[in-house]
Amino acid sequence: MSEGNAKSTDSDDRNGKSVIVDYDVIVLGAGLAGMRAALEAARNGASVAVLSKVHPVRSHSGAAQGGINAAIGEGDSWEIHALDTIKGSDYLADQDAVEIMCSEAPSDIIELEHMGVIFYRAPDGKLGTRAFGGASKARTYFVGDITGQALLYTLYDQLLKSGVKVYEEWFATSLFMVGGECRGVVALDMMNGDLVMLRAKAVFVASGGMGRVYEPSTNALICTGDGIALAYRAGAPVMDMEMVQYHPTTLKGSGFLMTEAARGEGAYLLNSLGERFMEKYAPNMKELASRDVVSRAEWQEIAAGRGIDGCVLLDLRHLGPDVILKKLPQIHEMALDFLSIDMIEQPVPVRPGMHYIMGGVKTDSDARSPVPGLYAAGECACVSVHGGNRLGANSLLDTLVFGRRGGRSAASYVKSVTSLPSDAAGEQFLAAEQKRVQGFMDRPTTGETHAKLRLELGTLMDEKVGVYRDESGLQQALAGVRDLQKRYDTVAVRDKGRIYNQALTFALELGYMLDCAETTIMSALERKESRGAQSRTDYAQRDDANWLKHILVTKRDGQAPAISYVPVTITKWPPQERKY
Ligand code: FUM
Repeated sequence: MSEGNAKSTDSDDRNGKSVIVDYDVIVLGAGLAGMRAALEAARNGASVAVLSKVHPVRSHSGAAQGGINAAIGEGDSWEIHALDTIKGSDYLADQDAVEIMCSEAPSDIIELEHMGVIFYRAPDGKLGTRAFGGASKARTYFVGDITGQALLYTLYDQLLKSGVKVYEEWFATSLFMVGGECRGVVALDMMNGDLVMLRAKAVFVASGGMGRVYEPSTNALICTGDGIALAYRAGAPVMDMEMVQYHPTTLKGSGFLMTEAARGEGAYLLNSLGERFMEKYAPNMKELASRDVVSRAEWQEIAAGRGIDGCVLLDLRHLGPDVILKKLPQIHEMALDFLSIDMIEQPVPVRPGMHYIMGGVKTDSDARSPVPGLYAAGECACVSVHGGNRLGANSLLDTLVFGRRGGRSAASYVKSVTSLPSDAAGEQFLAAEQKRVQGFMDRPTTGETHAKLRLELGTLMDEKVGVYRDESGLQQALAGVRDLQKRYDTVAVRDKGRIYNQALTFALELGYMLDCAETTIMSALERKESRGAQSRTDYAQRDDANWLKHILVTKRDGQAPAISYVPVTITKWPPQERKY
C-alpha cells in the first residue's frame, strides 16, 4: 500500500480487531476512470482512497491498444466527432453527454501529453493520428498499439505524486448504505482475509466492465462486473445493458484483441474465397465501418460457409514489416506467441468476440448515479455516450472525461455532507457482512466449483446473447442464468485459508457476474427491435417510433427486477438511417 493522504483519519491498525477507516471519497477501481477521478477529487480538496483488486497498472485499461479520439486536427471539429459518435451509437446515445465528451476531448489529450504520455508524432513533428472505425476523420491519437498501457502508467505516476492512498489487492464486497445514501464500502484485504469498513461521504465506482460474463472475451479475467452489481444491489438502476459490443478482430482460440488499429493502418478482412467481403456490406467505410456492422458481416460470411474454421482472415501483409513492427508490435508478438503466425507473412484468423459493454450504472454527465453519494464512470457506467455501439478509441476518452468531471463533482458533494454514520452503525454493517462472507467459507467442499458455473455462464451468454439474438434463445439464456443463480447458493469454496483466498474471491465475483448477466438478458428481451449491437433476428429493423429510449433495470427485494424507460436526449442530430 502507498502512504495515506494527510486528511484521512486512517487508523489502519487492525491486529484482528474490526477497524473503521474514513475518507471523503473512496474510489473503487484503479484503471483510467478511477485514477482520473481520484486525482481530480484530491486536487479539489477531498481526502481520497483508491481500492483495487489488482496493482493499478494491472487494471484492464492497460489492455486498450489502438488509441484515444479527439478532434484536434485541421478540418476536424468536435461537432463532426459528435456526429460520428451518435451515428455509431445508432442514435441511442444521449446527445448532450456526447457533446460534452467530444468538446472536452482535445484539452484532455493535451493534458495527458503534458503529464508525460509519449504519443506518436507524425514526420512533421506534430501529434499524429490514425484512422479508426466509424470515424469520418483520422482523429485517433496513439502510442503504438499499447495506448491504454501508456496512459495507465502516466496516470499512476500522477496518483503516486498526489498522496492519494491506494489499497491494492483489496476487494469490495458491499456498499455501506444508510438511509438510502451511500456512505462507504466493506472490503476484503485479500492478503490476509480481513474485512474492513471504509466509511466515506461518497463512493466512486470505476471498476470496469463485465467482459468475463462471456467466454471468450477480450477482457482481463478481473472484469467481472463487481462495481456494476454492487451499485445495482444498492438500488442504482443499470441502463442499456443489452448493448454488448463484439469486436470484429479477436484472435482465434484465445479471443485476445487484435486492435482495430490494424484496419486503421490499412489491413483487410478476407473470407475463405480470398474476397475482401466488407466491400459488399459497407461499400464506403469497408473494414472501418462501425464494429457492430463489421462483426455482423463476419458472422454472416462464416454462417454462409465462407469462413475458415469459424474465423475470417485479417490480412496485414501489404502493410510491410516497417508499419507492423513500429505501429503494431504488440499484436505482431501476440499472433506469433499464441498461433505461431507471423503477420508479416501470413494472414491471421480472427472472429468477432465480446469486447465491451455500452451499458452500466446510470449516471449523469458529472458521474452522479441516482443514489446519493454514489458515483460511477468508465465502462461500469452508462452516461450514455455510446448508446447502441461504441466507436473504437472513444472508451479511453470516456474514462478520462467523465472520471475527471465526476471526481470534481464528488469533491464538491462531500463538502455538503456534514457527518458520517456512527461507529455503531459501521460496526453493525461490518459484522453482517463478515457473517455473509463467512457463510461462503463454511459451505461444504462437495458443492460445484465456481469455475464450472462460470464457464457455463460464459458459454451460454456467447451462444444466446451474442452478435445475433432472438426471443427463444434469450428465454433459454434467462432460464439458464436463473438455474445458475440457484446453483450459486451452494457453490463450494474449497480453500478454507485466509491468505489470498482466490476460491473465495472467485465465488464472490461469480455472484456479481450473475447479476450482470440477468440484467443484460432482461434488457435484450425487452428491446424488441434491432439497433446497434442488439441484432434480433425476430425484430430485424430499428424501430424509432417505439424504441428510441433507454431501458433501465432496477433491483427489487423479493421480486423480479423492475424494467423502466427514459427517453434518449436529442440535441441537434435527428435519427437517420445508418449507412457506412
Ligand atoms: O481495437 C482496439 O484497439 C480497441 C480499442 C477500443 O476498444 O477502444
